[in-house]
Amino acid sequence: MKILITGGTGFLGAELARLLVARGDEVVLFDLAPDLVRISDFKDDVKLVHGNLAYASEVYNAARDSHVERIVHLGSMLSVPSNANPWASFQVNVVGTMNVLEAARLFGIEQVLFCSTLATYGIGCGATATDETIQRPTTMYGSGKLYGESLGRFYRTRFGLDFRSVRFPSVMGPGAKVKHVSQYYAWMVEYPALGKPFECFVAEGTKSPAIYFKDAVRALDMVCRVPRESIETVNYNVAGIAPTPTAKELEQAVRKHVPGAMVTYAPEPAIMEYYKTMRIEVMDDSRARQEWGWSAQYSDLDATVQDFLEEMRNNPARYGLK
Ligand SMILES: NC(=O)c1ccc[n+]([C@@H]2O[C@H](COP(=O)([O-])OP(=O)(O)OC[C@H]3O[C@@H](n4cnc5c(N)ncnc54)[C@H](O)[C@@H]3O)[C@@H](O)[C@H]2O)c1
Repeated sequence: MKILITGGTGFLGAELARLLVARGDEVVLFDLAPDLVRISDFKDDVKLVHGNLAYASEVYNAARDSHVERIVHLGSMLSVPSNANPWASFQVNVVGTMNVLEAARLFGIEQVLFCSTLATYGIGCGATATDETIQRPTTMYGSGKLYGESLGRFYRTRFGLDFRSVRFPSVMGPGAKVKHVSQYYAWMVEYPALGKPFECFVAEGTKSPAIYFKDAVRALDMVCRVPRESIETVNYNVAGIAPTPTAKELEQAVRKHVPGAMVTYAPEPAIMEYYKTMRIEVMDDSRARQEWGWSAQYSDLDATVQDFLEEMRNNPARYGLK
């Protein structure tokens, strides 16, 4: 199958591309700032298109020229950059998503998978978020992503596009470079493993759900391949590690493997403001379980930290850790 991945050389895009290439799919990666390090082991097996999601013509050209059957839309500005530059975030996350959906409509591309986020929830949420929980985001990033979920649903009913989306909590894995409100998860493992001190930017008691990157990539691949008639909920929560640890509990899990870990806490007020309304500890993914058989393989924190450290040891170049 021929598949276009926007944000295709990013943290998740590159991992999904690696999986698809290994399976024999033809893959086109569209990215504003292609990161060749992440795809160095398979760059000759993909087509790379340098482009900006915010420019409709660049997205249309990529969609028209690549003759793909599916777009996996991962290109995005994450939470911290979106907060710093909400105007650019609007262009990338909102206009960019419109451009992708329009490209699919205009060039007859059957399916679009969109990647949304826990940050679409916010005000009034309790400890558990289901797919029916009212989404009232507090951030530019969450607001833009919620619009993407809704816009895709509209394209599904109005134009018959096979739109689907997954809503991830924090995705933890090696080599992610862009700071977002819950990026401390990955850096709490990565910095100590590299012998570097880590100043955690949330308080010790902060709890935020997370999923391991191998599970996240598996979910992206899996949801695309579900028969269209099985897709009812359309926008799906996808959960990973359970129970959700506090930042301190994560540090303790890391310490079992890296006893000399140098971790201190300096909570950033702007990020802690987000956690004042974001109280979700459980992402209820029962719809994904029922409709497409989803279940996380990495739900145990300790096993996840262990695999993360092994992955860093086994593939340092892939994650830019050398
Ligand atoms: N990482 C997480 O914890 C997390 C959690 C929930 C959802 N998501 C979603 O997963 C998707 C992938 O995130 P990621 O962690 O791989 O982030 P990332 O920042 O590593 O990757 C995003 C990619 O998008 C590209 N990009 C940014 N602006 C662009 C533009 N204007 N035009 C074209 N490309 C552009 C970047 O160059 C980058 O390669 C995003 O949609 C994100 O919102 C991520």
